Amino acid sequence: MQDPLKIGIAGLGTVGVGVIKILEQTAERIAARAGRPIAITHVSARTRGKDRGVDIGGYTWCDDPGALADAPVDVIVELMGGSDGPALVLAQKSLSAGKHFVTANKALIAHHGQALAESAERSKAVLRFEAAVAGGIPVIKALCDGLAANEIVSVQGILNGTCNYILSVMDQEGADFGDVLADAQRLGYAEADPTFDIDGIDAAHKLAILAAISFGAQIDFDSVSVDGIRAVSPVDLDYARQLGYRLKLIGRAHMVDGMLEQRVAPTLVPVGHPLAAVEDSFNAIVFEGVPVGQTVFEGRGAGEGPTASAVVADIIDIARGGDAPAFGVPAAALKKLSATPTEARQGRFYVRLTVEDEVGVAASIASLMRDHGISMDSLLQRGEAGKGEVTFVLTPHRCALSVIEAAAEARAALEVVLSKPAILRIQDQDDV
Ligand code: HSE
Repeated sequence: MQDPLKIGIAGLGTVGVGVIKILEQTAERIAARAGRPIAITHVSARTRGKDRGVDIGGYTWCDDPGALADAPVDVIVELMGGSDGPALVLAQKSLSAGKHFVTANKALIAHHGQALAESAERSKAVLRFEAAVAGGIPVIKALCDGLAANEIVSVQGILNGTCNYILSVMDQEGADFGDVLADAQRLGYAEADPTFDIDGIDAAHKLAILAAISFGAQIDFDSVSVDGIRAVSPVDLDYARQLGYRLKLIGRAHMVDGMLEQRVAPTLVPVGHPLAAVEDSFNAIVFEGVPVGQTVFEGRGAGEGPTASAVVADIIDIARGGDAPAFGVPAAALKKLSATPTEARQGRFYVRLTVEDEVGVAASIASLMRDHGISMDSLLQRGEAGKGEVTFVLTPHRCALSVIEAAAEARAALEVVLSKPAILRIQDQDDV
């Protein structure tokens, strides 16, 4: 067997500890699959003395993670997080020094993936980030290898487990967003600062990575349109069911007239769609490709085992001599695609309005729809006599988002409308 592949790990949180456990406790199996032993030699983290449940005494300790780039290691594994700061410095230093770089850091790749891929290729180093998207689900390898023969038509998925968990509980219990979030934080399912998760940013990082690989494009996180789940009410989940849908936070990317459309938004997904049945903290991704058709991947998108599984898969790939480009094609061949302008974004929408329960209110809403040239597919109305308010849920035929927004703004200005209209996306079964 060859000499061991030497690994330096920066960041010894949950995932770092998971990687150590796999590499130490199943070393023989990993070596057999990798074709050579894999040895952790250097580590770096914020605190040295902490009890992590694994023995790090045999590794060389580095106070400064950046020092790993100068250490005698073959692969740097970055598990610190953050799009800039120490993670970016370590990535830049490692790749310039010709060291292979494995990361679980979606923010780093979403913001700097193109530059890092170029740097890796200049110094003949390998850049890998399987764990950055959907944790334990091997979607990047699926796209780059298993689906390499295909033209990808669309990619969509449930890319954030925290949001899927919150929406699942809201749906099952009819509970409010804030209460479920507070419970999820207490139970450790949601971060103390949940902003990146619930505002859709984490899902947008992952979507931008998948879109770049799917469409052979330079990564473009800034053009992802992002809506999180803060404004979702339990009544939306209930109405979605009545209309034959489930409400999920969906990331979706596809090409429209040569332009790339990427969005993350709470979306009504038809009951028969593979994403509709994905519950709790699971992630799932659906690719539509030619000639393969639809392929569906589901599994755990976070946590020690799933994320460490993906990190170790990247290390094994490097040990085997895998040196394919990070985004599937050489960085110089990645196209700079334009983003679809907001006014060109079409789709089907769900609009919920709470209005005063008075004579003529339905007629006012109907005339507003007519004035904006919006044709209706369905209209639900619910309210209890004597309660003073009534809810309308309108689902127009396919139209431009800008038209819906203009109509919603005009509606919001009506005196009878009691709160800001909620606008959600509808994903139809035949939308590939
Ligand atoms: N916080 C993420 C989630 C996992 O809830 O899915 C890491 O991206």
